Amino acid sequence: MEKRFIELCPTKVPSGPYGDVAKRLRQEAAIINTAAPSDPGFELEHLKLCFTKFPASPFFTMKILISKPKKEFVKDLGKEISIVKMKKFYVDDSTKDYSTHYGTIKNSDLNKKSGSVVKSDQGKEFILLDADFIDEYKRIKRTSQIMTLKDIGYIAAQTGIGKRSKVVDAGTGCGGNSIYLAHLCKEVISYDINSENIKVAKDNIKNLGLKNIKVKNKDFFKGIDEKDIDLIILDLPCPKKAVKSAEKSLRVGGYLVVYSPQITQTNDFVNAVKKNDNFLYEKTVELMERNWKIDKLISRPRSQGIGHTGFLSFVRRV
Ligand SMILES: C[S@@+](CC[C@H](N)C(=O)[O-])C[C@H]1O[C@@H](n2cnc3c(N)ncnc32)[C@H](O)[C@@H]1O
Repeated sequence: MEKRFIELCPTKVPSGPYGDVAKRLRQEAAIINTAAPSDPGFELEHLKLCFTKFPASPFFTMKILISKPKKEFVKDLGKEISIVKMKKFYVDDSTKDYSTHYGTIKNSDLNKKSGSVVKSDQGKEFILLDADFIDEYKRIKRTSQIMTLKDIGYIAAQTGIGKRSKVVDAGTGCGGNSIYLAHLCKEVISYDINSENIKVAKDNIKNLGLKNIKVKNKDFFKGIDEKDIDLIILDLPCPKKAVKSAEKSLRVGGYLVVYSPQITQTNDFVNAVKKNDNFLYEKTVELMERNWKIDKLISRPRSQGIGHTGFLSFVRRV
């Protein structure tokens, strides 16, 4: 069965047991009113139908086309100007031709090896890549403000979480932080009180094919079910109210990290946690990311970039 799936599946096979994949595909085929294959092998038709119906399905690799930047010297202006800018196009369905304003790329070209250079019918060149986790992550549907990569990355580095870690995240929002944590950790349990946000987060989680996140519709302040947690991250209003819940659920040595856009809330949280002998306050930081423009003789910070995002406070359960 595994062999047959690989032969028929046009692109990537997701991680996890193939049995699960088989089950999902049969369910998807059934949903779109197609007779599910009775034998464990798959018919190409079913796969194609699933793909059409579920273009963002994790069973198929999304493709990325990157237009190769091109500059030309314009005599009248006396300088080089960009005639093709670097631009990314996300191709969800590589069974069809894909149109851009630089022309159409044939589906046979879209299925070439990652890294190939393909041409549109207007002769424009694109670099073709298979989408990685980060490409798919950047396209998640957003409702609430999500934590930025610089902040998520810093939390991961400072707390040392990894593939054996069990993490609690609150609130879930549309799943930005939880999804990234699930990519890094063993298990993520995510809490939110807003069912609309939870619905979007669950769709995002499904589209990325992540199986190690559990989303709970519950108020974090009222206490959580988990024990021996390695890291709790809070991105919700009034984090000082979460100290008791976090204290009961963290393992000794585990971290509580609070992300807050407002210094007033950070201040309230830090002062509250400092009164608790079971926590050791480490630090509060704000991270600045500044992009630079580098091109021939130009080397300077760009005038626009990410401004203020939030303050991060780190406390350790002792
Ligand atoms: C800014 S969003 C979180 C975004 C998320 N960290 C991300 O990276 O996508 C804040 C979320 O906290 C949730 N929230 C507010 N109070 C809460 C509580 N007491 N318990 C759980 N979730 C809560 C809100 O419903 C909202 O979805």
